[in-house]
Amino acid sequence: MPSHGNPQPLVQDILQQLEIDPDDICKVTKRFLQQIKEGLDHPRPWQLPSYVFHVPDGSEKGTFLAVDLGGTNCRICLVDLLGNSTYNVTQTKQTVPEHLRINPRYQPLFSFIAKALREFLDQHELRHQIDCPTGSKRIPLGFTFSFTCEQTSISKGTLIQWDKGWDIPEALGKDPCAMLQESIDEMDLPVLVSALANDSVGTLLSRAYTSQDQGSTLAGVIIGTGTNAAYLERSCNVRRLPNTETKPMHDTIVLNTEWGCFDDDLKVLPITPYDRELDASSINPGQQQLEKRVSGMYLGELMRLVILHCHERGVFNMVLDVDSPCNCQYGIDSSFLSLIARDRTTESWDATKDIERVLSARGVTPDDARILTQLADSIARRSARLAGSALGAIIIQSERLSGPVSEKCAVEVTSLPNDQNDKQRPKQPKRICGLLSRIGDYFKRFIYSLTKKRSVENESLDQGSEQNFIDIGVDGSLIELYPGFEAHMRGALRDIQEIGPEGEKRVRMGLARDGSGVGAALMANAAT
Ligand code: GLC
Repeated sequence: MPSHGNPQPLVQDILQQLEIDPDDICKVTKRFLQQIKEGLDHPRPWQLPSYVFHVPDGSEKGTFLAVDLGGTNCRICLVDLLGNSTYNVTQTKQTVPEHLRINPRYQPLFSFIAKALREFLDQHELRHQIDCPTGSKRIPLGFTFSFTCEQTSISKGTLIQWDKGWDIPEALGKDPCAMLQESIDEMDLPVLVSALANDSVGTLLSRAYTSQDQGSTLAGVIIGTGTNAAYLERSCNVRRLPNTETKPMHDTIVLNTEWGCFDDDLKVLPITPYDRELDASSINPGQQQLEKRVSGMYLGELMRLVILHCHERGVFNMVLDVDSPCNCQYGIDSSFLSLIARDRTTESWDATKDIERVLSARGVTPDDARILTQLADSIARRSARLAGSALGAIIIQSERLSGPVSEKCAVEVTSLPNDQNDKQRPKQPKRICGLLSRIGDYFKRFIYSLTKKRSVENESLDQGSEQNFIDIGVDGSLIELYPGFEAHMRGALRDIQEIGPEGEKRVRMGLARDGSGVGAALMANAAT
């Protein structure tokens, strides 16, 4: 690896600004934990109940359609859940044109999806071929709609806000399933939109379905175009939900944290001039502040702003062409960061050619390449450490790191004091709930240790259970493609006092492939 000595004070200053030290990580986690608790107590546009009460155990079976919408693509999938933790997926993908993503009316987008669905059904001759569960004539479809929705059931919700550059004002306050069903019915397709899924919830479900270590999956994390996480919470902690029949019937519920909006009032998140500029010229200023520092949609743009700043001050030898993507908002994709980081991991390190090609630049020198790589690395490292501290807050909240640590946390962090009723609420039920749940966990582990089969194949599975892993399903281009992203997330987890190196070792992260498609199918299965 080349040495990264860099004499330029401006560059050093930017690198410094992008650094988050362990104290700051702890502050961020503590603040996120407060927001998690606030969202458990009061209706907020985060900590949204998904009305999924159990995670799959791999035995689920059936054939379902899924539509996955939320980045820049729309995917149509046919998912066959085989019931042995495996599945088959057939899928097509289409880019959603910008004029449909930004449009005053919702109908053009939803008829675009319905048309894609019609083509898919015809192409695979599916119109009459599927044995629908419950004898219905319509094929159940799970709709992964990756925007903030307040759900009232597994199949109904209202859209609270758009993000990631989408803006269709007429759809706000409406039910995404109903909007899609409307267009499907207009085309007379034999399809019933039966479940609404956030991609983070889908990722959690599909990871749990494929996981060989049942019961260990705690969360699904997305670090792609946007960022978000869903996790399994104890129902009795979800005080924002009325005490209707559902709560006593179900011990757990999957919550969609919508962590992209955490700390939107910027109490603890780092702020550089580039963050300010990015936010001010975004479609949703003041919103999704964590997302704007973490996710793929924005890291390329942050990099572009940093490059322009340095370029204007004569840091580089390279010359940018007039039509360089550096001169166009969102002109640089976050894949550029992954590309030059990957170049660095090769033996004959030379990113100059890739930089010339992607930036439309001439005369890129090895020094330029080194500086650009350092800058990209710092932006990605900050993103990963912030994602790690958000994940840390979920892990602490889950109390899966049992013992004195979680008790300490429960004492230290309380919900934000903005509800009088909260102060009068007796604390006893929460403790009983925690205690019962812990007894339940021990019992489950005891039963598991009695019944587990010892074989060569599942040796590692056994080890996993004995060490009591906390399993996290992850999905998204950044975590998948940026070299060392997970390692930086882990670094942040180690920095968090309540987790530390011991706790971090117990966290197992694994890709949830096809998370959105398989997750939506699992939701549709849960809804039948
Ligand atoms: C945005 C959306 C959220 C989604 C995430 C990842 O943050 O609000 O619902 O899960 O992007 O796609």
